[in-house]
Amino acid sequence: MRGLKDKVVIITGAAGGIGKATALRFAEEGANVVVADFADGTATVQEVEAKGTKAVYVKVDVTKEEDAKAMVAKALEVFGKVDVMINNAGITKDAMMKKMTKEAWDAVIGVNLTGVFNCTAAVLPHMLERQSGVVLTTSSVVGLYGNLGQTNYAATKWGVIGMTKSWAKEMAKNGIRFNCVAPGFIGTEMVKKIPEQVLNEKIIVKIPAARLGEPEEIAAAFAFLASDDAKYINGAVLSVDGACTL
Ligand code: CAA
Ligand code: NAI
Repeated sequence: MRGLKDKVVIITGAAGGIGKATALRFAEEGANVVVADFADGTATVQEVEAKGTKAVYVKVDVTKEEDAKAMVAKALEVFGKVDVMINNAGITKDAMMKKMTKEAWDAVIGVNLTGVFNCTAAVLPHMLERQSGVVLTTSSVVGLYGNLGQTNYAATKWGVIGMTKSWAKEMAKNGIRFNCVAPGFIGTEMVKKIPEQVLNEKIIVKIPAARLGEPEEIAAAFAFLASDDAKYINGAVLSVDGACTL
């Protein structure tokens, strides 16, 4: 991938799953990584550094504006710049609408939507000052088509598409690109929470690729969209889903 060597990338939710795979992929491309998560990200840091680049773990709850600001401040203190911000942290609290609690609604909105707002708002002054940067967001097949039991999650994953496109329209002139990756069902802790029978009988059977995706397959999309190979791609939503949206 062109242009990622010596870049600095902040990845939220990088302690595990897609975020960790993305941290390792960016390290392979020669980038330095800020591992931002409220879970312990030191294992990710060690694995990144084993690949020969630098990494730092920052404990952050993306729902908190002050945490997001501190995360960017730490990145600037350690690395002196931020080239790429990847808004990857996300949660589910699934329930059919008739059973969904206000607590489950608020929690998912807080992480998946407000968290993306907080982290992007925190990094923008620096990117605007440099007139350079890439901000990536994480939607989902569920953000494009909805899903049973995911009123809250669908609202957020649809929402981040609108945010990403709005930012691209506002700030393309400032040299900042904003793109979104929309994964299908990927084999991480998040998918492990789906009841086994539902996963096998209702979900996997509908995926033309007939398998779950791998975190590394989403990491590759993030790396491409952050790279100079994508320098005229702005405001796009890239589905990486084994054709499950067809
Ligand atoms: N797709 C199709 N059918 C589904 C379904 C789904 N995702 N989820 C549930 N159903 C079906 C069930 O098979 C069941 O069908 P039958 O009545 O024919 O048996 C019916 O809906 C009711 O389901 P439950 O009996 O399980 O109802 P419940 O109230 O106990 O639980 C639920 C509801 C919490 C939504 C639970 O079914 C569930 O967790 N489903 C999975 C929801 C899901 O797909 N989440 C994705 C998580 S991964 C993710 O979000 C990442 C991403 O971006 C793709
Ligand atoms: P995961 O559950 O494996 O990892 C999520 C990470 O986010 C965890 O390390 C967790 O600690 C962190 N996190 C959660 N809340 C946080 C908070 N408030 N502040 C900081 N960090 C927080 O999930 P996965 O599968 O890796 O998902 C990553 C992203 O990809 C999410 O946005 C998810 O919605 C999205 N996605 C996942 C799909 C899948 O099938 N796994 C499909 C489509 C989208």
